[in-house]
Amino acid sequence: MRPNGIIIAIDGPTASGKSTTAKQVAARLGYLHLNTGAMYRAFALLVRRRDHHGHDPQRVHDLLSEAEIGFNSAGNILLNGADVSREVQEPDIALLASELSTDPEVRAKLVEKQRTIGSNGGVVLEGRDIGTVVFPDAELKIFLVADAGVRAERRQLEFEKMGTHIPLEELRQQLEERDKRDRERTISPLRKAADAVEVDTTNLTIEGQVERVFELAKARIV
Ligand code: DC
Repeated sequence: MRPNGIIIAIDGPTASGKSTTAKQVAARLGYLHLNTGAMYRAFALLVRRRDHHGHDPQRVHDLLSEAEIGFNSAGNILLNGADVSREVQEPDIALLASELSTDPEVRAKLVEKQRTIGSNGGVVLEGRDIGTVVFPDAELKIFLVADAGVRAERRQLEFEKMGTHIPLEELRQQLEERDKRDRERTISPLRKAADAVEVDTTNLTIEGQVERVFELAKARIV
């Protein structure tokens, strides 16, 4: 056992329910919740703010040294000390994050940070490569999946709560584009670890999926 408890890795495609599940399971266990996607998004935001399209690797690498990415005590994502949790939700930032996450130097910097925060355990990390690359020795690995139509509907609801209406077809297209790139990249692609438990959330309620992961976690905590 690690000093603060086990490591729970939750991976899966866009809008499969990772954030909701990770957040609630972490709260029930008194664990830290680490949303690694938010870290890639925060870096994408910096690139965008510097008025850069992200296609010049040298410029992207220079910007890496300017990016201080972390979380505040409420779990909100910080970019150079400022809470950017709202800005990182923008769909174009998600797409740019997916593009930038194919760069090995970007991944190396963020993965190092994730390992520093998580290695003592007592943490639920969500992302694409947690169970395969960041913490291949995690005590519990979950791979969440859900039907693409249902995922697009969930995304639409999230945006509606923030006061923005985006057509379903547009959202579905965006998430399929992102999933394709995340699965097909050569470095740390999205894939299920051999020892991960697959949970299909298509027909599960939020309570149902949280309960399932919580029960699996309890069984691993001795
Ligand atoms: O989980 P998310 O949708 O917020 O992630 C945004 C993008 O960041 C995602 O499309 C791919 C990238 N990402 C990654 O490559 N590895 C992770 N561990 C988390 C996210």
